[in-house]
Amino acid sequence: MKTPGGSDAAKRRAGEHAADLVTDGDTVGLGTGSTAAHAIRALGQAVEDGLDIRGVATSYASRDLAREVGVPLVDLGAVERIDVAIDGADQVSDDLALIKGGGAAHAREKVVDAAAERFVVVADPSKEASLLDRSVPVEVLPDARGTVRRAIRELDGTPTLRAAERKDGPVVTDNGNLVLDCEFGAISDPAALATDLATLPGVVEHGLFVDLADEVHVGHADGVTVRR
Ligand code: 5RP
Repeated sequence: MKTPGGSDAAKRRAGEHAADLVTDGDTVGLGTGSTAAHAIRALGQAVEDGLDIRGVATSYASRDLAREVGVPLVDLGAVERIDVAIDGADQVSDDLALIKGGGAAHAREKVVDAAAERFVVVADPSKEASLLDRSVPVEVLPDARGTVRRAIRELDGTPTLRAAERKDGPVVTDNGNLVLDCEFGAISDPAALATDLATLPGVVEHGLFVDLADEVHVGHADGVTVRR
């Protein structure tokens, strides 16, 4: 699944704006994707300038970038508290419900973002919508792909196994699982759908993030707007 391309300048503005919220001593959730990557790079610069923080990666990609730019890391399994998480989204509704998982990292992202005292979403304007209507990524145990596919159809969804872009075969997540991208049309009750998806046997995690985001920083050509 491709994320619609917003402008990189808008993504950078949002990422850098959110990185400015991080203060000395913070444990910081490091999101996945091109917008969160701008925040990680800004945090790397801040560490070089003397900021004392620890990052918690949400994916191998964010771990690798954090290492490259010099953000010290601590394992997710070793932390009990995260001060602030900065993460991107594929879609953000008016009431701050999110669809995430364009990078197939939503399982770890949800653990980190939900554990954060302050979860800050970074986005460009192409992600904003009044109602969520993009496909919902659902991470499944490989052997459960058939049974979950059928259960999704019973929920009036249309599941598609996510294929790898540069090689034959499916996308395999950092956790060794597969992703079904599930179309539901406009989602009028994200909380109800989130519960339905979470209770399907074989579903590891889905990309609906409801009542988790504290604020959304949206980058524009001339600045950043913050919605709470
Ligand atoms: C990864 C995600 C990303 O945060 C989401 O896909 C947004 O990515 P980008 O900032 O590149 O548009 O959920 O699983």
